[in-house]
Amino acid sequence: MRVLVTGGAGFIGSNFVEYLWKRYPHYKIVVLDALTYAGNPDNFPQSLKNSDRFTFWQGDVRDHALVQDLVSRADVVVHFAAETHVARSIFDDRKFYETDVLGTHAVASAVMRSPHLDRFIHISTSEVYGSARRVPMDEAHPLEPTTPYASAKCGADRLVYSYHITYGIPSVIVRPFNNYGPRQHLEKVIPRFIVKALQKEELIVHGRGEHTRDWIYVTDTCKAIDLLLHAPKDKVVGKVFNVGTGRETSVIEIARLLLELIDSPSGITLVKDRPGQVSRHRASYQAIESAVGWRPQVSIEEGLKETIEWYKGHGDWWKKLLWMLKVPFRNEKGEAIWL
Ligand SMILES: NC(=O)c1ccc[n+]([C@@H]2O[C@H](COP(=O)([O-])OP(=O)(O)OC[C@H]3O[C@@H](n4cnc5c(N)ncnc54)[C@H](O)[C@@H]3O)[C@@H](O)[C@H]2O)c1
Repeated sequence: MRVLVTGGAGFIGSNFVEYLWKRYPHYKIVVLDALTYAGNPDNFPQSLKNSDRFTFWQGDVRDHALVQDLVSRADVVVHFAAETHVARSIFDDRKFYETDVLGTHAVASAVMRSPHLDRFIHISTSEVYGSARRVPMDEAHPLEPTTPYASAKCGADRLVYSYHITYGIPSVIVRPFNNYGPRQHLEKVIPRFIVKALQKEELIVHGRGEHTRDWIYVTDTCKAIDLLLHAPKDKVVGKVFNVGTGRETSVIEIARLLLELIDSPSGITLVKDRPGQVSRHRASYQAIESAVGWRPQVSIEEGLKETIEWYKGHGDWWKKLLWMLKVPFRNEKGEAIWL
């Protein structure tokens, strides 16, 4: 089996590559990644990099010729590559549409021209739903993206759907909820809180921190993608699957839980809320459970403990990123501000 993974040097992609490499010793894995600020070759263990089962291509998913060549030599494609940070998308949205929509267009077009391909797993996001109109949120929940990131991912999600309907591409659309775990960039809220707490600095919370998310540990997501990759085609192709835990926790609760687990003296400071903030998310995972028997296995308490341990043991990985803790975005007057 030859698996092409786009965006494999990022947070979820690198966890998935390592998971696949360990679980399937005969698989060949090809990663295509542009190594933007979010991609990091250190995310791959050295033994994996040295292995002849692993090939790395530094390149852009918008490069049709390169993508066509790599897809034509793969059996399955898992497409993670994207610009992923909501707050950055409020500062500079153009590259979100270019990477997330046009990059997905390049991948889906290559898939269309590769009839031998077994399946194409497109990694979408729960952000496409916007705030919950009802909970738990199933896959039929209206798509009401509230930020440029979410709308770009929504465009990509619907592009893949339309290619399945029009050209019959063997796509599976996955909508993970909020992932956390080792190797997540410090711009994202859980690692940001962890490193702030480890350094005994204030945790900055947007709004009153009452907005909830369905937090899922990254290995649970990897297992879900694995099952979708190997299930009988008729159970998954052409379908959309949420990957979440069915449990919601507010950001302020996460902050307090982390401070307690780390036993940190840091305080919590509330600042103005971010525009487009999603107020509530809680997934229904009934569709993926019925199709492939997946259920989340890691509780938020266990997952946070594992994540804290990883950041405690990998200061060399995250200290280089501390300067990126502040993220620029544009306010309603078009002024750039840093949060
Ligand atoms: N992290 C989450 O909570 C979450 C939740 C739901 C969905 N997702 C989706 O999962 C996927 C992976 O998310 P992540 O958190 O690992 O993101 P990430 O930002 O950590 O990684 C993204 C990767 O894509 C690469 N990339 C960016 N632009 C590229 C381009 N033009 N060509 C090739 N590679 C490019 C980056 O170098 C990086 O390695 C994304 O599609 C994201 O939308 C993430």
